[in-house]
This record gives sequence, C-alpha cells and structure tokens, in this order.
Amino acid sequence: MVTAFVNGQYLPLAEARVSPMDRGFLFGDGAYEVIPVYSRRPFRVDEHVARLASTLAAMRLNNPHTAQAWKAIIGEIVARNPWEDQSVYLQVTRGADSKRNHAFPGPEVQPTVFLMSEPLVTPGAEQLARGVAAVSAADIRWLRCDLKTVSMLANCLLRQHAIDNGCAETVLFRDSFLTEGAASSIFVCKDGVLLVPPKSHLMLPGITYDVVLELARSRGMWHEVREVLEAEVRSADELWMTSSTKEVLPITTLDGRPVGSGEPGPMGRQMYAWYQDFKLTVMRNG
Ligand code: PDD
Repeated sequence: MVTAFVNGQYLPLAEARVSPMDRGFLFGDGAYEVIPVYSRRPFRVDEHVARLASTLAAMRLNNPHTAQAWKAIIGEIVARNPWEDQSVYLQVTRGADSKRNHAFPGPEVQPTVFLMSEPLVTPGAEQLARGVAAVSAADIRWLRCDLKTVSMLANCLLRQHAIDNGCAETVLFRDSFLTEGAASSIFVCKDGVLLVPPKSHLMLPGITYDVVLELARSRGMWHEVREVLEAEVRSADELWMTSSTKEVLPITTLDGRPVGSGEPGPMGRQMYAWYQDFKLTVMRNG
C-alpha cells in the first residue's frame, strides 16, 4: 500500500481525493518536485525544497510550509512507504475555487498539497552499458522553463515523441541552440571537454545538473558552461541525460546516428562513477 499526503493528512494513495475544481486540474496552476531517496535518505532535499520555493515565488503562490516543515513531511512519507529507495513526488497547486476563473482566487482558498512515493528505479546495468537512443525536436515550450510547474503538456508530447520513435528521450533545440531534454538535462562531451548550457529561463535548473558540475569542478574534469550549438551536439563525442531518477545516463544514438563511437564513452563512465561515489558518501554521512 502506498501512503500519500493530502493537505495535512497521511492516507492510502487509493483514498486520496482532490476537487475537480482544483486549479492544478483546471489550469495546470501548480508546482512540483521529484526527490530521489536512497536508503531512506532524501538526496539534495534542501536544494529541492529551495527550488520549489523559487517556483512558488515566481507563480506568486504563498509557500504553505517552511523548509523545515517540508522536510518533515517528506521524511514522514519516506518512513511510511515500504521501499528503501524511493522517488518522492510533491505537488502544490493554487487550490480549488468555487468557480472557474483564470485570475487568482481570494485568500480564503488554500493551496492543495499532495505528496506520494514510488519505488526509485534508476537505469540498470544493461542500459548503462549500452546507453539509450534519443531523437531531437524543436523546443516548443514557453519562455519560463526554469519553473517546475505541472503545466507539462509540451514535455509530455516531447517525451512521447521519443517513445513513438523507440527512444528514451527527446533532445530539444531552440533557435539552433541546445536547451535540455523533455524531462532531463543534457550534457555534451567534445574533445575531452564537458559542455552544458548556462541556467536561463529556457531550461530547468536541474539538481543533478548542479551535482555533475560540482563533481567536474572538484575532481578536475575540464568543463565549460556556455551556450551549446545544435551542430556541437550533432558532432559530440558523448551525450548524457541527467535527472533525479536517471542519474547520469549515456545517449548513444541521436536521430538514428551514433553519438561518437556509438558506445558509452570514458567521460560518462567517469562521471557515473563519481556520482555513485558521491551518493554513497552522502548516504553514509547524512
Ligand atoms: N524531471 N529538465 C526537465 C524538463 C525535467 O523535467 C527534469 C527532471 C530535469 C532534471 O532535473 P533534476 O536533475 O532536478 O531531476 C531537467 C523530473 C525527474 C520529472 O519530471 O520526473
């Protein structure tokens, strides 16, 4: 049985209810986070809670909980669910008004808070050994992709485009520049240098993106944070997708053509090893 949290109450997920008048349902008017949990310890939880706070502030939605209260709720959801490794999903919407109105409701309408958890399934040995296939597409999303909102139609269409083509991810280009994946950050390796676009309104500030850059910095992998041209992606030696659930996963074909040798490369293998090592250190030290 999966335990969920809805507006202050812990209950079985199957019994969780929200109103059809909820603005998350009617307008996609909400924020979310996905937090990986290893050995029952949430990974980078302060950073996830801080990113939620930034999304809510940009949405002009009062944060219903302090960082400390969020961490307590996340901890309780982890404790009440059966898996050692979990993926905690957290969502806040602008609540349920009595009428449908694009403009914000009054202060009497409280935000809806929902959390649930699923087993965390990170890429397996075979996927890591082979890498995954990706397709590319124009980034058709809006101009505030830095906000982690539940208005996800474009991301869903773009991820389904990958699935329809037998691929794992869609790599997005806007005006011939790399932005990110449909649900991941994208890193490029060329001539021994790790390249990634700088944070902007056009991409999500990934928590895994930050960990990867910290590891590159601290362990001495040559890297550049700068705009990356579509042509550089297409001539890359290695491509990786990174996210809280995929960790660091090599992309070995793009639009049916091999990336570099067509096999996972040495920089990706190195970063994957550093990431696993860092994860274990964090899990040991809390
Ligand atoms: N998605 N970019 C987009 C558009 C994403 O949806 C995600 C993550 C990322 C990577 O962010 P992070 O490293 O903080 O997980 C980048 C989550 C996992 C999801 O929607 O399920």
